[in-house]
Amino acid sequence: MDTSSLPSMAQYSEKSLDPRVIVALDYSGAEQALALVSRLKPDLCKLKVGFELYVSAGPDLVRTLVDSGFHVFLDLKFHDIPNTVAAACSSAARLGVWMMNVHASGGMAMMQSARSAVECVVHTPRLIAVTMLTSLCQDDVESLGISTSLESHVIRLARMAQSAGLDGIVCSAREVSRLRQEVGDRFLMVTPGIRTQDTCSDDQKRTLSHTDAIRAGADYLVIGRPVTQAEDPVLILGQINTELSQMATT
Ligand code: C5P
Repeated sequence: MDTSSLPSMAQYSEKSLDPRVIVALDYSGAEQALALVSRLKPDLCKLKVGFELYVSAGPDLVRTLVDSGFHVFLDLKFHDIPNTVAAACSSAARLGVWMMNVHASGGMAMMQSARSAVECVVHTPRLIAVTMLTSLCQDDVESLGISTSLESHVIRLARMAQSAGLDGIVCSAREVSRLRQEVGDRFLMVTPGIRTQDTCSDDQKRTLSHTDAIRAGADYLVIGRPVTQAEDPVLILGQINTELSQMATT
């Protein structure tokens, strides 16, 4: 793994960083991911490592990204019995990641075990819960046999995650303003499914634009293909950041 072009940790102090965009490094291998990362800086974005990249590149790549000063969201969406999830969370937290997640539908005991496990690590990551995947819509919820509306189900899972002591949730930006009324302002809301009208929604169904997501109250935006598959990912990321910072000053 050639990591020579990545920034060193010392170049970036943690306090100066709070980019709202988390770039989803959905690549099949470390080489491709690092080719993009070498063009990024921790003050431009945070990074997300999901199944595809983790299965091929493993914990070494996660450590490399962390050591380069990036805030890394390890998106492995753990969902298993409490003991197994707690052990997995403990190992993941020891990689030094900034954020990690479990599925809220794993239940209260599973989320509480995950919370306790990450508390035992020196640098406790933010632990959040996936509510309903942004690739699902009301019809999918019905076919799963869930009898309430998708929004009510998301609210129920969000409340459970909050009661279990988690730091926040993954949800659609479309649900954020309603969820804020239920769980308040301090509960983190991380929103994938970010698309503008000009971009293809791919397999995402509950989408919103980056500006509307922030306006609705999202804390962090997970953006994958609109950035990673752009002709110039760094240019697109720069445009998104500019539009978000213009919103902050108006
Ligand atoms: O390419 P795109 O912007 O759709 O990527 C979204 C990313 O966010 C993917 O890595 C996907 O796994 C992740 N994600 C999601 N919906 C969730 C949780 C995570 O799309 N509820």
